[in-house]
Amino acid sequence: MTQRPSGPFRVGDRVQLTGPKGRLHTVTLRADGELHTHHGVLRHADLIGQPDGSVVANSGGHEYLALRPLLRDFVMSMPRGAAIVYPKDAAQILAEADIFPGATVVEAGVGSGALSLWILRAIGAEGRLVSFERRPEFAEVARANVETFTGAEPGNWDVVVGDLVESLPGAVEPASVDRVVLDMLAPWACIDVVADALTPGGVVVCYVATATQLSRVAEYIRGTGLFTEPDANETMVRGWHVEGLAVRPDHRMVAHTGFLVWARRLAPGAVPPEVKRRASKSSYGDEDVELWTPGAVGDRQITDKNLRKRVREAQKAADGARQAASQD
Ligand SMILES: C[S@@+](CC[C@H](N)C(=O)[O-])C[C@H]1O[C@@H](n2cnc3c(N)ncnc32)[C@H](O)[C@@H]1O
Repeated sequence: MTQRPSGPFRVGDRVQLTGPKGRLHTVTLRADGELHTHHGVLRHADLIGQPDGSVVANSGGHEYLALRPLLRDFVMSMPRGAAIVYPKDAAQILAEADIFPGATVVEAGVGSGALSLWILRAIGAEGRLVSFERRPEFAEVARANVETFTGAEPGNWDVVVGDLVESLPGAVEPASVDRVVLDMLAPWACIDVVADALTPGGVVVCYVATATQLSRVAEYIRGTGLFTEPDANETMVRGWHVEGLAVRPDHRMVAHTGFLVWARRLAPGAVPPEVKRRASKSSYGDEDVELWTPGAVGDRQITDKNLRKRVREAQKAADGARQAASQD
């Protein structure tokens, strides 16, 4: 069972150390572990038993602030195969999809597993998450990342390697899924199988990077007649510098990550009383859009060599976490 991320540091805990000049190091605590830097050696034993948020010195007298990483720290620094959902968007996805403790949730694609971690936390031990990923190497990165953060692969999480359109009907009963989250290039291609899997009143949320994808998936959802009117939004978070009288927005921010589009599954045969007025051009044919390739929507692709490196990094971190946990 996963231990609470609080209390004094224990063997097996991941700890983020902020050292001289703000340099960050993340270690998994082992009874005989040591962090070697050119500033000296920090013994893990000096941290074990100390409260979270302690400051400890290494052999050279340099001080390190030790904190357990929060989920948002972990997802931002974990090995990535595919681009991750940023914490600000993950929080909104949980809210718009109304993901609740005990929910049965389907997610595709799993990518690097960032969103999986947020969903697993929100559904709790009573919930069930089924994540689909068509690229086996990405599924491996995601599995390793989730195991590194949680300490063990959660028993209520299934990763299905395959395309959602082909795999979803065989993986879940029709009308049995509470929530579906799609983070992929062409979510419209999955809406029909998602409609079959969702329970009446269930929610589908799509996270897309471009306005052209946003339009296409919203029109597709509307065109099925099986959902409520789709809603859409984007989340911009602007950090603030707060120091003395210098209280102002940060000079730089992440201006764009993605858009959310969401709708609810209607009961079979239901026709909502009010339908929004159609836009002048209500649908798009394939000839209207460029081919939906990663390049066409400006998606940066990881090379096979880099991806193999990420798989090794993620698995090494998971091995470390497993070894440390077995020493506990
Ligand atoms: C942007 S990544 C997902 C990132 C993930 N949400 C995270 O937070 O780490 C998109 C993933 O969707 C996968 N994918 C795209 N279409 C798919 C489909 N039809 N079925 C399953 N996986 C799909 C891709 O292989 C890719 O790994």
